[in-house]
Amino acid sequence: MWSPGTFLLLLLPTVLAFKPSDFKTCSQSGFCRRGRALAERSQELSSWHSPYSIEPPELSPHQPGFTTNVHSSVYPNVKFVLDVIIHEEGIVRVRMDEENGLRKRYNEATQWALIGEPLLSDDVLWTVDSKKAKAVYGSKKDMELVVDFNPLKITLFRGGVEQVVLNGRGLLHMEHFRTKEDSKLAEHIEGEGQSVLQVNSAAWFEGDTQDAFWDETFSTWTDTKPKGPESLSLDITFPNHAHVYGIPQHATNLSLPSTTGPTARYTDPFRLYNADVFEYLADSPTSLYGSIPLMHAHSATSTVAVFNAIASETWIDITHVEKGGVETHWISESGILDVFLLPGPTPADVFTQYAHLTGTAPLPAHWSLGYHQCRWNYVSSDDVRGVQDRFDEDDFPVDVFWLDIEYAEDHKYFMWNKKTFPDPVEMTKDVEAVERKMVIIVDPHLKRSNDYPVYKRASELEVLVKPKSGEGEYEGWCWPGSSSWIDFFHPGSWDFWISLFKTDTIDSQWSWTESTNNVGIWNDMNEPSVFNGPEITMPKDNIHYGGWEHRDVHNINGMLFANHTFQAAEARTDPPRRPFVLTRAFYAGSQRFGAMWTGDNLGTWEHMAVGIKMVLANGVGGMPFAGSDVGGFFGNPEPEMLVRWYVVGAFSPFFRAHAHIDTKRREPYLLEEPYKSLVRDILRLRYSMLPVWYTAFRETSESGVPILRPQYVMFPEDDAGFGIDDQFYVGSSGLLVKPVTEKGVKEVSVYIAEDQVYYDYFTNQPHRPKNRQITLPANLDQIPLLIRGGSIIPTRERPRRSSPLMKHDPFTLRIALDTSGNARGEVYLDDGETYGYGKGDVVWRGFGAESTKRKGKGIGAVRISSVDLAVRTQVGAYDPKNEFARSVGDVRVEKLVVLGLEKKPLSVGLEGGSELEWEFASKDGAGVLVIKDPAVRVVDDWAVVVKLE
Ligand code: GLC
Repeated sequence: MWSPGTFLLLLLPTVLAFKPSDFKTCSQSGFCRRGRALAERSQELSSWHSPYSIEPPELSPHQPGFTTNVHSSVYPNVKFVLDVIIHEEGIVRVRMDEENGLRKRYNEATQWALIGEPLLSDDVLWTVDSKKAKAVYGSKKDMELVVDFNPLKITLFRGGVEQVVLNGRGLLHMEHFRTKEDSKLAEHIEGEGQSVLQVNSAAWFEGDTQDAFWDETFSTWTDTKPKGPESLSLDITFPNHAHVYGIPQHATNLSLPSTTGPTARYTDPFRLYNADVFEYLADSPTSLYGSIPLMHAHSATSTVAVFNAIASETWIDITHVEKGGVETHWISESGILDVFLLPGPTPADVFTQYAHLTGTAPLPAHWSLGYHQCRWNYVSSDDVRGVQDRFDEDDFPVDVFWLDIEYAEDHKYFMWNKKTFPDPVEMTKDVEAVERKMVIIVDPHLKRSNDYPVYKRASELEVLVKPKSGEGEYEGWCWPGSSSWIDFFHPGSWDFWISLFKTDTIDSQWSWTESTNNVGIWNDMNEPSVFNGPEITMPKDNIHYGGWEHRDVHNINGMLFANHTFQAAEARTDPPRRPFVLTRAFYAGSQRFGAMWTGDNLGTWEHMAVGIKMVLANGVGGMPFAGSDVGGFFGNPEPEMLVRWYVVGAFSPFFRAHAHIDTKRREPYLLEEPYKSLVRDILRLRYSMLPVWYTAFRETSESGVPILRPQYVMFPEDDAGFGIDDQFYVGSSGLLVKPVTEKGVKEVSVYIAEDQVYYDYFTNQPHRPKNRQITLPANLDQIPLLIRGGSIIPTRERPRRSSPLMKHDPFTLRIALDTSGNARGEVYLDDGETYGYGKGDVVWRGFGAESTKRKGKGIGAVRISSVDLAVRTQVGAYDPKNEFARSVGDVRVEKLVVLGLEKKPLSVGLEGGSELEWEFASKDGAGVLVIKDPAVRVVDDWAVVVKLE
């Protein structure tokens, strides 16, 4: 019988050909070789200095910045221009471009990455002398930007301490545009007296070979490089910071290891070049699917960051230097220099500064925080219905069923294979009947076939990416065979893409009538993945809208696809609803368009462990809605591994199980006991904690501070935590989890940075750290999950089939008192699908527990209260009796669990009201007070008083 697998067999030879050697090392990439060679020459030559200098700028003391000419002593006739501007919040932007060059460098990366032009600072005082320009700014006037003229060097100081130095090592190099003849002339005159000097004078800096200037061959592909050399290199040093984080996506530690110098862990630099890497390694600096050129540098007294807004292939060498500090060297293939320095001084400040540039992750549709069940592939409508039935029969909560590429006839996305999916809308509605959703894949490659209207129309509109000739359509291979790619840089494609997602025919003749407005969209293969292309992607000399080469825009390409899909999904309804889009490729700013996942991981313990680090790194990169394929994409995980992986998933912002087409089915209901019940409990735990996740998303959608918070973000002053990346806090809830990612573990040690009490989430047992550790049992049925003393955790504990069914469920509050007897927490609620929150349709409550202490006698009373946080922060046109609040007016707080009382209360009652029903149990001086049904509503202000004396 026909099956999708049969079709796949035809493609397998191509697929199986993917291997790490499909991808370049630095030594196989001309401009990376040139960049590293420059760095090596700089170390060999004691007289090394940067050949770049600037003309002293003319500037009045209060202007935000200046523009001036840059000279290069090795190419005196080439003109460059430098722009230095100080923006609000002390963000410094440094731009440099070649002026009147033979060609134009790509300068549009920020057009896609930023949410707007950053505002200029009006709080700067410049002074200029013969050697430097200096700006003093900041509310404490402790920020200083010093621009040295010759050689050009830019240093950001805070409190007199160097934070970031650009070109301090003299590695800045913007290769100017030249003609082949220019270079030949130079070669030709070599040996003719005077001219020899000219050539040699550049050689100390640029090297004496034209290494891969005009073309470059890798494997069987030749990149023609019609523009010649145009790479850009820059050294960025953090002299007083020992740790650097960020630059996702790499399968490595959160605190990035060295790539050069005596402590180097890798031989290659970290690479940013969006790539579809088959069976990627779990510990490697190679590029993966996404690129965010943002790096945090951190010490116990300061956090700063650099956002290098470049869209071309980029390599980053990192050296932790012996005398302290971190040196980095960024080598990019093309584009202007456009670097933002984010001054901190704390991790939270840096997140917010970056969010002000590139935006935050918007509040997602609430259902997208539930559990997603995916597989390549659920093969028919009946299969989907059958899987849904099994979830229900076995009482596993789930919100979303996914369809991978085999739903589409010959992989022509939007078009259903009617043999296997005869009734797509009915099937989708069957899923939606219990308020679940479907997510359906739409990849960016279009089958070049006359019976594919989407391709035909895109071709007529001439919005397909062009080959290097600039004429016609680029053709490459992907899932459907011969394919072309819509050029989402082309404005002519935008309305067309929107029209494809409409579900009625009123608005568009292209409508996807065999879909519903609730369907989420999965954008995969958008690096873009091209099976027969160089490094499994597009040739760099392909041409995009505006005449830009693919090399210029490669790392942005995937973001544009997700961006336009997000807009299209949003435009399906009026008023719009929050769309859900999952993307594999990403760039700075992609957080605005949905979630990402870490691609095709392996079902191994190493991949499970590194997936956590990768999700943490994506949070640092401003893209918090992230997760890894639960279970691993490739392979057949043993039940123990699968159970542990479900815990990792349940504590990821994006929680999806997925599996390759060749794997055995592994839906949780197929597990034997005890594994099956363990996974059910984990899923229920996730669902019970949805209020925590949603509340954390509210916060990140405003501040940019990530949802999963590593130690350095939580405790920026605690050196010992800066390297820790296997445990994390969930938002500011106070939950701390350390998922087990090794086989056979029975116990784990959790690092605690403070002298505070932490409570076991499941047993309520209080722990005080010993030597900064809390040891917890971690058998397969145990999750090392702690509540930090001082936190209040809102949960909903009724098992339901899907998250929308929880809308009217009551809340439990776990009130974990800190060592002073206090605690705080919050819960944020809204309708979870519209943008009504913008006009104040929200319920946002702050919970507090305050103890009165009697001298030497411990806690006398605890007052537990709920206040309206939306009123305090004035969300939109907020009215406490808004429509949403009214719709959840019946929702009760059904239980308060107070942890940390040393003795039995005398009474527990509503403030100014009656005594409540309560129970107190105590073991070894650790008391747990359970207040049953305090008869309060979540939308109201209330207070419960616990009297101990
Ligand atoms: C890619 C994706 C994977 C998907 C497959 C088929 O490998 O990363 O998740 O299942 O393509 O669409």
